[in-house]
Amino acid sequence: MANTYDFGLVGLGVMGRNFILNVADNGFTAYGNDLDEEKVNALIEEGGDTNKVNATTDARAFVNGLSAPRKIMLLVPAGKIVDAVIDNLLPLLDEGDIIIDGGNSFYTDTDRREAKLKEKGINFFGAGVSGGAKGARLGPSIMPGGSREAYQHVKPIFEAVAAKYQGEPCVTYLGPKSAGNYVKMVHNGIEYGLMQLTSEIYDLLKKAGGLTNTELHQTFTTWNQGRLQSFLVEITSEIFAQKDDLTDNDLVDMILDKAKQKGTGKWTSQNAMDLGIPVPTIDIAVSMREISALKEERITADGLYDRPKPENVVKASLVDKAEQALYFAFIMAYAQGMHQLADASKEYGYELDLGEIAKIWRAGCIIRAALLADITDAFKANADLPNLLLSPAFVEKVQATVNASRELVAYGAINGIPLPGLSNALTYFDAYTSERLPLNLIQAQRDYFGSHTYERLDRDGIFHTEWEE
Ligand code: 6PG
Repeated sequence: MANTYDFGLVGLGVMGRNFILNVADNGFTAYGNDLDEEKVNALIEEGGDTNKVNATTDARAFVNGLSAPRKIMLLVPAGKIVDAVIDNLLPLLDEGDIIIDGGNSFYTDTDRREAKLKEKGINFFGAGVSGGAKGARLGPSIMPGGSREAYQHVKPIFEAVAAKYQGEPCVTYLGPKSAGNYVKMVHNGIEYGLMQLTSEIYDLLKKAGGLTNTELHQTFTTWNQGRLQSFLVEITSEIFAQKDDLTDNDLVDMILDKAKQKGTGKWTSQNAMDLGIPVPTIDIAVSMREISALKEERITADGLYDRPKPENVVKASLVDKAEQALYFAFIMAYAQGMHQLADASKEYGYELDLGEIAKIWRAGCIIRAALLADITDAFKANADLPNLLLSPAFVEKVQATVNASRELVAYGAINGIPLPGLSNALTYFDAYTSERLPLNLIQAQRDYFGSHTYERLDRDGIFHTEWEE
């Protein structure tokens, strides 16, 4: 059975198994490889017909069973395991073969691997895959980066398995080297932002409006039928309806309030700092996961300070304002992420097309949302748009929702409900749209104590003043 299967996949965990079955469903033959015999057997059993989808624990048999050029996707945990799998496959491969890393690898690791494999004539792709297990099985959003020529071999398979938005596949060639992993990293940064914002709105509706889980379920269900329509709003509505099977309570009330993280949100923040691009909504989302982890300290601190008792508000009006504020803040999270992508594209030579990126996020991925159709249009209308807030179509959306945002942020501050993402999105907006900021004072201070010099509004040049002590 030499050289028969169209597509190979290493790592038959949940994502890998689902992805390979998706490939087979779309008319391509696929061969899986995993060291774990149980996973191999599970795939063979689920696949049904081994002429269509097969699996083996033997790396050599796996490689020999793939048609040329071999297209081998890795769905293994990011980090050292990716290097180990590559080292294992390398001696078995031929020039022109293609390895695709489908995990959340750090973009500089992808650059390093791509350069190393290029020397051996192997094409390496970093391809972010978003949509979780269900997405992998039924249609994820795929974000591939690497050699444009080699992508032609992968394209038919990826386009067949990807999610479709109005018939268009949610995958496209994004750019050279680590472009795919970079875009997926920022996707996850935005994901962190949207999740944090949604959790704050939940807190507000619950503490200020006294909404029950049933009411929260209804509210999010209604919102999901409007402009907030998105995967995260949809699953949030379903979460509120979930009963706990260990107690008589709703499951959401029984879940410990400590959020874990695998690192992609933090990487987005760290890299944005390096690039000098402000992404405060993403930064705060990372910080809040860190604060959430300090549960013991939070319990102690809670006992040390008084907190205002939230004033009652009119439920219907609160729900209406919350919808507006969430929409406003979602726009800020996407605006910041897209801004980061625009800058990274210049810095790393990715030549990203932001309109195409927004387009492949419209379905399949975790941050899919009705808003992404508008974001796509904004970048299609102006590919060089520096920030979504400068798009005429967005001026209207933001203008219409900013006041509700102000009211809720003020309410949260006075009533002791932490709304760091919402307030942060608002201050990002207020600062970005301020012609004059008070940073002239910072320049004066820097010059005062360190002779760091300053520029002037009224004439060109660099100035220093001997400040009076
Ligand atoms: C996706 C998700 C996926 C993963 C997150 C979870 O797009 O399908 O982003 O890649 O579930 O990275 O990240 P944390 O564990 O850091 O929350």
